Amino acid sequence: MNLPTGNPKLDTYLAEGYTSVRGMSSAFAASISGHMIRRQSEMGIKGHIAEIGTFEGRFFIALAHGLADGEHAIGIDIFTWPSEKVLDNLHENLARHGIARERYTAIKGSTADMGIADLIAPVKGRPDLDPLLPIRFFHIDGQHDEVNLTKDLALALPLMHPQGLIVLDDMLHPSYPGLVETVHKWLRAHPDWVCLAILDREDIVAAAKYVLVRAEAVALYEQDLLTTFAANVFPMGSDVEGHFTVVLTPHPRLAEVD
Ligand SMILES: C[S@@+](CC[C@H](N)C(=O)[O-])C[C@H]1O[C@@H](n2cnc3c(N)ncnc32)[C@H](O)[C@@H]1O
Repeated sequence: MNLPTGNPKLDTYLAEGYTSVRGMSSAFAASISGHMIRRQSEMGIKGHIAEIGTFEGRFFIALAHGLADGEHAIGIDIFTWPSEKVLDNLHENLARHGIARERYTAIKGSTADMGIADLIAPVKGRPDLDPLLPIRFFHIDGQHDEVNLTKDLALALPLMHPQGLIVLDDMLHPSYPGLVETVHKWLRAHPDWVCLAILDREDIVAAAKYVLVRAEAVALYEQDLLTTFAANVFPMGSDVEGHFTVVLTPHPRLAEVD
């Protein structure tokens, strides 16, 4: 299910291109993410966009359609699974769906071997980019285990805009039941961060995403999500580590009891 994002280029990609790009994230989550990225620009939140686990670019292209001037998209992946053709396919998909080569950098390698400097290397020394900008939207969708997710969060955290969003993929996926434990542990260790929203699954291969934000920035996003996506709000919401969390789902409903 795709929803209007307020960004015409992204709406076209979601309607006509998204499912033609091999990948796993849902159009539902891409719509809501694209909406939040557009609003960040409108609120004056400037920064680059990053994704760990870029694969062939399905979600990355959606994010990159929200780039403003001076901003760059950084995609990191080992780019060897399921074959060495993945990186070529990524470049082809980006070109086909309107993301110019100078707007993004693909970094090939495992985040397990990377430091923060490796992630921001693409924006250094480029006269068209602002090297001082933080990252305003970081999608983490790499190796789904405690060690790697903890490492990926550690890479992202120091780079984040104070009002930026970290979005975690494959939360509550039946294949990775322990992954949320890692997130809860991380949230307890970082009490200035909360889970703003859960974007519900569409399918077994398009599982839920958690949207994390600093507590002081919740108000920038929360009411807007509840209002804009009112038709998709699960009325009971959720509670993640003591914080009210918005739940957005393609078909909100309660179980029928009579
Ligand atoms: C589920 S796929 C990503 C799907 C993509 N984000 C989408 O929405 O279509 C996970 C990706 O993470 C990559 N990956 C796994 N471990 C990694 C690591 N340690 N560092 C970087 N990328 C990794 C894999 O190569 C794979 O392409």
